[in-house]
Amino acid sequence: MRERAAILREIGQPLEIGDIVLADIAPNQVRVRIAASGVCHSDLSQATGALPAGAPCVLGHEGAGVIEAVGSEVHHVEVGDHVVIAWTAACGHCWFCNRGELHLCRNAIPDTYAMPYATDADGAALFTSMGVSSFATATNCLGRAVVPIPRDIPFDVAALVGCGVATGAGAALNTAPVEHGTSVAVLGLGGVGLATLMAAAVRGAAEIIAIDPVAARREAAASFGATHVVDPADGDVARQVRAITGRRGADIVFEAVGRSATIDTAIKATRRGGTTCVVGAAMPGDDVALSAYDLFMNAKTLVGCQYGSVVPARDFPMLLELWRNGRMPLDRLVTRRVALDEVNDAFADLSSGAGIRTVLVN
Ligand SMILES: NC(=O)c1ccc[n+]([C@@H]2O[C@H](COP(=O)([O-])OP(=O)(O)OC[C@H]3O[C@@H](n4cnc5c(N)ncnc54)[C@H](O)[C@@H]3O)[C@@H](O)[C@H]2O)c1
Ligand SMILES: [Zn+2]
Ligand SMILES: [Zn+2]
Repeated sequence: MRERAAILREIGQPLEIGDIVLADIAPNQVRVRIAASGVCHSDLSQATGALPAGAPCVLGHEGAGVIEAVGSEVHHVEVGDHVVIAWTAACGHCWFCNRGELHLCRNAIPDTYAMPYATDADGAALFTSMGVSSFATATNCLGRAVVPIPRDIPFDVAALVGCGVATGAGAALNTAPVEHGTSVAVLGLGGVGLATLMAAAVRGAAEIIAIDPVAARREAAASFGATHVVDPADGDVARQVRAITGRRGADIVFEAVGRSATIDTAIKATRRGGTTCVVGAAMPGDDVALSAYDLFMNAKTLVGCQYGSVVPARDFPMLLELWRNGRMPLDRLVTRRVALDEVNDAFADLSSGAGIRTVLVN
């Protein structure tokens, strides 16, 4: 089956639009005709080499579309169903899945990279990206990766739930659950951080402090429920957070940038007994120097967040319900829609902080 896709030929190069040939689906796979794909910072990081990726590959891990073919072993979807694709295809029976930690499934990555995917027009094998590869007109994925959604949900909103919204909102709902009346700070107001902020608002946080150097993103945060905004250019961010929170620091600080320096700031902006939740994806060699004294003396909790600790089949429809009922304005995260051919412009938007999420639509 010949399709179009944005191919990362070599790490560090721009994406190339070209033809791909999808493999015949295996019994445990489905074919999804992609309707929309969000462009997440992790795609850009994979393209530049900041995060690991196999090349050549087709990036994109925030996709939604329509089921076009179903393998004989897949029973929860049928042709014509609308779906969001999860980038962790949990097996449902390993040690982690049995504990309900589907986001940590031991078999998700090996099974994803072992599945038949695609070749380029010359017959050279392509790697999938996280089993989704949504920068394309269609994809092959494991049946267990797809979550059916109601047919009236717009595909661009649905796509964001595949990564940025699941991760960001999941951080505040699952990984470091926000309780009503608490103070929350969010460092980094991209699609991920703004989803964290929206979820903190839904959970009834009393104070939501939104931090980003980009003025338009701080303004967006204020319109999504931030009670305070902080510009890092105005001086020490941890000190600014403490000034807002009775000199204590925030109960929970979410880091959604992915750099050592902002993780350090997040820990410093966390109150005694509070929690720092690291959502941003730093590079494999990045370190954070912790004060061992601060950690014990101030009894802080530091927690890493993988994919918002989501259970996709439970959380994706729930997040879309929150959108449908006006509790989380996820549609306002979509600030630009472009065609697949313009994927490199979408990367430029991400690099420059223009808009919030640029979505590829087919
Ligand atoms: N943990 C996971 O499973 C997971 C999943 C998806 C994305 N991520 C990661 O989450 C991070 C955010 O992704 P995104 O798509 O929202 O990215 P994005 O580029 O849209 O947003 C990042 C934001 O951080 C801001 N920023 C930069 N320096 C800052 C500073 N010093 N202080 C405060 N803010 C600063 C930028 O202005 C930008 O608004 C990335 O690192 C991404 O790779 C992690
Ligand atoms: Zn992502
Ligand atoms: Zn598993």
